[in-house]
Amino acid sequence: MSQFSVTDAERQVADLLPIQADPELALSVLDAVPFWFHTFALNRAEGIYTPGAARDHRYRVSALPADFGGLSVLDVGTFDGFYAFLAERSGAGRVVAVDNEQYRLWVAARWGIELEGGEGFRAIHGLVGSSVEYRRLDEQFDFVFCFGILHRVEDPLGLLRVLRERTAPAGTVLVETYGIRPEDRDGKEIRASEPGEVYACDDYVYWGFGQAGIARLARDAGFERTEALDEVDVDGHPRVLARLIA
Ligand SMILES: C[S@@+](CC[C@H](N)C(=O)[O-])C[C@H]1O[C@@H](n2cnc3c(N)ncnc32)[C@H](O)[C@@H]1O
Repeated sequence: MSQFSVTDAERQVADLLPIQADPELALSVLDAVPFWFHTFALNRAEGIYTPGAARDHRYRVSALPADFGGLSVLDVGTFDGFYAFLAERSGAGRVVAVDNEQYRLWVAARWGIELEGGEGFRAIHGLVGSSVEYRRLDEQFDFVFCFGILHRVEDPLGLLRVLRERTAPAGTVLVETYGIRPEDRDGKEIRASEPGEVYACDDYVYWGFGQAGIARLARDAGFERTEALDEVDVDGHPRVLARLIA
């Protein structure tokens, strides 16, 4: 039995990608994957959803392109791949998902679950008959998801530099990352967190960002401009959303 309940908020986002798997198959996939990060609607009619650990992504949805038609898309730090599969379902021409599987370390530390890596991604990939590619590449993309990762890399400027190289002229990187609580702000636009401070037993959240901090890093990484989109509190955690234009 998973420790994560599926709330209406998670269902609403998952329902953007209805999978409609046969109920027996849906239940076997549900059981076969030891940990889910994303909530997927395996079978809406039967109420079969994966119990994703990620909470309430509704605030992200309005920032997604209304139409992915024909775009090439890179999802960096894809984990179970919800956004990569959503882009594919929404008409993207080609979708590549990358992940260094760092999550194996913090899932083991926080929840005591040992993962091989890629279990959830492969399960959904098979269920939906996806063509999303899970590998490293050397090319440019029109649209890049950089969701939930900037605060988890040791060198966020380095990551943005790499993404700038991978973004086509006038292309977009949509960044979503950990913010800074008002009481911790104290004039800071980038804040270093203590190991385990943000999530107990998770030493892989290194940073929190304000919009100006993201814009500063983006400028140094060579982006043309940054649009601040949103700052929200989700489940007691500050999150920020910004669009970087190459
Ligand atoms: C919190 S999860 C976010 C998953 C998804 N992008 C989302 O926001 O819904 C962060 C993901 O980034 C991955 N990650 C961390 N550092 C990475 C790196 N240097 N390269 C690729 N993936 C990385 C982790 O393994 C994990 O899957």
